[in-house]
Amino acid sequence: MTAETRARIHINEVAMRDGLQIEPVFVPTVDKIDLVNDLSRSGVEKIEVTAFVSPKAVPALADAAQVLGGINRSNTVRYSALIPNLRGAQAAVDARVDEVNFVMSASESHNRANVNMTHEQSIALLAQVAQLVKAAGIDLNATIATSFGCSIEGAVPLSRTMEIAERYARLGITSVTLADTVGMANPRQVAEMVRAFKAQFPDTRLTLHFHDTRGLGLANVLAAVQQGAESFDTALGGLGGCPFAPGATGNICTADTVHMLEAMGFDTGVDLAALPPIAARLAKALDRDLPGRVLKAGPAY
Ligand code: COA
Ligand code: ZN
Repeated sequence: MTAETRARIHINEVAMRDGLQIEPVFVPTVDKIDLVNDLSRSGVEKIEVTAFVSPKAVPALADAAQVLGGINRSNTVRYSALIPNLRGAQAAVDARVDEVNFVMSASESHNRANVNMTHEQSIALLAQVAQLVKAAGIDLNATIATSFGCSIEGAVPLSRTMEIAERYARLGITSVTLADTVGMANPRQVAEMVRAFKAQFPDTRLTLHFHDTRGLGLANVLAAVQQGAESFDTALGGLGGCPFAPGATGNICTADTVHMLEAMGFDTGVDLAALPPIAARLAKALDRDLPGRVLKAGPAY
């Protein structure tokens, strides 16, 4: 297969946000800027650079505006930031992101723990966020955290996640991420969810966000691509986790995901060889080893 005929899978690199938010170490702003600049040359399509959230809630990302103001933007990469409320949305617009990523959780308990809001409060805010972001000419993605299960409430039925997706659709949201925030999804569940979502919202761009908490991260990617999913959040080195979800651990690793998908004949656009030096730089900034496998073993092809 040539690159032209290979099916494209879109990679959104989230280590700078989902990865750093759980780390006790504050990575200096200049190092974050260098890491984003390096990632901009790796072939990833989108980088979630940071989050505009309370610096008390997530001190590791308190420098969101400085990071976005300091990076060299590539015209082949889209830069996004996560936001929980209107204030975050305004700050993200002011920082000239390409996309704002709103987050609320399928689990009411996780929504309270994470953003201190009820579902109704988050949905009401999303309506205002959508207006603000649209008026600024910026794209909006809305994430449903704990879509596949919650470490506080336990199982999250597919119907609950779909109900929130329905509320998003009624607000005109056409780009949605289903996040397995605490790594509770299994491949059968993922296949059912992707099938149901694509059937009900055929025109919505769907991204899957998996954590490898219980070793099912790549199995879930496989289940999703077999149902036609085309977009994934992944993190450099497999860093990641939500500080407000008990037991949370790393996202699926960008290199491992790219390696699997490319070996299967998909085109991710990512230069696998570019990732190890960037991951090494991240590991050095955090002063610890990162869980990614292909970074250690090298590619099989
Ligand atoms: N950016 C920066 N600061 C913000 C903010 C934003 N988007 N929204 C609120 N704040 C500040 C407020 O000014 C206030 O500061 P103060 O204590 O110095 O006055 C403080 O944060 C708390 O704000 P408040 O409106 O009382 O909200 P809260 O305490 O109920 O917290 C959130 C709500 C949403 C701000 C907070 O829970 C949060 O930032 N959560 C993000 C969690 C996260 O990123 N999780 C991981 C991603 S899934
Ligand atoms: Zn996550």
